[in-house]
Amino acid sequence: MIPAAEQVIGREGETATFLSRCVVTFGLREFGFAPRQLRRSAAHLKCYNRRHIGTRTMSQNQWTAVDEYITQLFVPPDPALDAALRASNEADLPPINVSQTQGKLLYILALSCQARSILEIGTLGGYSTIWLARALPNGGKLITLESDTKHAEIARANIARANLSDAVEVRLGKALETLPQLAAEGFAPFDLVFIDADKQNTPAYFEWSLKLTRRGSLIITDNVVRNGAVIDADSDDANVQGVRRFNAALASESSVTATVIQTVGSKGYDGLAIAIVTGDK
Ligand SMILES: C[S@@+](CC[C@H](N)C(=O)[O-])C[C@H]1O[C@@H](n2cnc3c(N)ncnc32)[C@H](O)[C@@H]1O
Repeated sequence: MIPAAEQVIGREGETATFLSRCVVTFGLREFGFAPRQLRRSAAHLKCYNRRHIGTRTMSQNQWTAVDEYITQLFVPPDPALDAALRASNEADLPPINVSQTQGKLLYILALSCQARSILEIGTLGGYSTIWLARALPNGGKLITLESDTKHAEIARANIARANLSDAVEVRLGKALETLPQLAAEGFAPFDLVFIDADKQNTPAYFEWSLKLTRRGSLIITDNVVRNGAVIDADSDDANVQGVRRFNAALASESSVTATVIQTVGSKGYDGLAIAIVTGDK
């Protein structure tokens, strides 16, 4: 089977779709090309790229297939998590939750820092919430902030089905209003913060995360590459500009040590920022 279309990422980070019999070089064998055809197709592709869009090609079909392969190996079927995705889908929530493999990564990160208290900004249907909450020890607490009433309602049901209602509070309201409340109520410091809400406000959420964490806490932020658009300083996309401001703030913040990892998979091409609070100023 040869995929009809693939995504091509150009030098400027723009995404174009084109019809082609060529797929990413190392995928060609799998699709039944003989070595000579393979060399010819690879040369053809290189030539196409040089003329049209740059030097690198990436295939969404291939990212999805590999994600499925990784998921089968590392994320076995799970009644509560699978039901959360199904219920969110049936309720027409946008499919903007983290992927299964990313959810597992969040779980591992929360386990590795032995998080007892977690703050999530952006709940949706509670899929990432369930992953994170499962890493909590007995008596641990996760507070997740959501501004959409329907999302919060679906999330609460999904969290209840996962038997996590005692450990998780879904707090309804705009995060810039609920974050000061949390601070006043004395919930901080959190051991881990996951930022995954409206991207324009990501810099402000990062500021709050610094106030609500301690030395050794992790601050994880999703969607910081945005299909490569993050390198476009002139972008008129408010989300891209929000993420650019966040990345710049993260890079220049002396009280954290941080990096950004580009990610590909079933959710496309994006990136995850991971920071540890060192407390140095
Ligand atoms: C990307 S989704 C979160 C996905 C979730 N973390 C997951 O992976 O399962 C972003 C969520 O943030 C919520 N949101 C958007 N703006 C917000 C705001 N100002 N305050 C709180 N939540 C907000 C949206 O309604 C949406 O449910």
